[in-house]
Amino acid sequence: MKIQSQLWLVLTVLFLATSLGVYLVVADAYEERLQASYEQVAFAQGAALLEDFAQVYPESPQRLMGYLQKYSEQLQARLIILDAEKKVFADSFEVLPPKTRLELAVLNKGEGYASHFAQTDAFGYVQYTLLPFGQAAGYLLLIQEAEALSAELSTFRSWMLRVLSLAVVILFLLSYVVAAWLTEPIRKIIAALKQITPRKRVFALTYRRQDEIKELIEAIAGMVAELNLYDERQRRFLSTSSHELKTPLATMQLILENLPYVRSDEERFQEFTQDLVFQVQKMKQMVEQLLQIMRLGDRPLQKEDVSARELKEHLLQVFQYLAQQQDVTLEFELQDVTFHVDRQLFLRALDNLVANAIRYSPRGKTVRIAVKREQGAKVISVCDQGIGIAAEELPRIFEPFYRANDATAWNQEGSGLGLAIVKQIAELHQGQITVESVPQKGSCFHLRLPAK
Ligand SMILES: Nc1ncnc2c1ncn2[C@@H]1O[C@H](COP(=O)(O)OP(=O)(O)O)[C@@H](O)[C@H]1O
Ligand SMILES: [Mg+2]
Repeated sequence: MKIQSQLWLVLTVLFLATSLGVYLVVADAYEERLQASYEQVAFAQGAALLEDFAQVYPESPQRLMGYLQKYSEQLQARLIILDAEKKVFADSFEVLPPKTRLELAVLNKGEGYASHFAQTDAFGYVQYTLLPFGQAAGYLLLIQEAEALSAELSTFRSWMLRVLSLAVVILFLLSYVVAAWLTEPIRKIIAALKQITPRKRVFALTYRRQDEIKELIEAIAGMVAELNLYDERQRRFLSTSSHELKTPLATMQLILENLPYVRSDEERFQEFTQDLVFQVQKMKQMVEQLLQIMRLGDRPLQKEDVSARELKEHLLQVFQYLAQQQDVTLEFELQDVTFHVDRQLFLRALDNLVANAIRYSPRGKTVRIAVKREQGAKVISVCDQGIGIAAEELPRIFEPFYRANDATAWNQEGSGLGLAIVKQIAELHQGQITVESVPQKGSCFHLRLPAK
């Protein structure tokens, strides 16, 4: 069922229930008020007679009967005198014999004046009024028909019923309009969402009310923008990747095409095949790194504790030999810090940073790896005394495939993907990677992870 219809239904049911409640309460209150006014009249009528009855009851039943019949005619009522035990003493209609016990609700209503209304089969709507007299040695019971009250009541009821029915019908129509008005933005959102295709991803809706729907629209717009950005990045990444892969392929093709002509020249032939191997290795590394980048976010992080000491052991194991070869000294400065990270990814990020530091350092220099705790963060710094990075290139080095000019001149190897991987890993851990660098002096990369 549509939300609009649901809303309509709920509102209508609500209105109906409210109307019914109002009807019951108001009709009841009205009936009570009417009865109260009838009651006052009957009390006044009855009280006016009591003195006469008190004079002749119970000594002169004859005269009492005379009074009863006179007043019965006057008031158009049946009058009954009851004795102290509320049994019949005399009845103006002369139907009830003395000592009859009556079963009337009004008889059980305490000691003072009392009145009671009831619907009877024989006489219709009837009012009973009980008035004690002579220190309650006797009672006067007044029985009057109250059809007028009943008629007034039913007129009022039917009038109210009509008014309320009209109100319900109006509210029924009104709630349709309200429901349509409330759900209109939802229909608009659905329509706008249906407009979105893979080709044309725009979500624009003007909406003025300040409510949750506004938040929803903004959230969707944000999501669509994000999606477009992601899409754009993916597309750029794909085209750069293919382009970057084409370069070594073109070189390889050139070498292979020329290979037959240098077959006789042993030295050149060696050179060519070495170049070939180099290009293949480069491509292989690039493809591996590409795969890594693609898969980084695929599985959830498997976090575990990695101590600064483990970290040092790992780096020594991986880089000791390479550092010796390049005549670069590895130095460590470790505080007792434990990282709660995905070990595999975390070490991969570090490997990339240290590999860069060694790669872009001249012989005889030092690479220093420091682990320390800062306020709210745990930081690993990898600092070198290498070629450094020009200030204008700094912002770009974390982009995939970006290699600074100095770096390409310095070293043919490298894909430009390493730092992009580091950055992604840092972000997966809610951390960040920053760099400071002075050309010809050296660079410092800081990997900062939240302390908890
Ligand atoms: N320690 C460093 N010293 C100087 N330049 C660096 C250093 N680390 C990274 N760079 C610069 O950042 C670029 C991107 O680094 P990276 O993504 O690891 O790619 P690469 O495969 O070239 O090492 C490098 O090409 C280089 O220009
Ligand atoms: Mg690198």
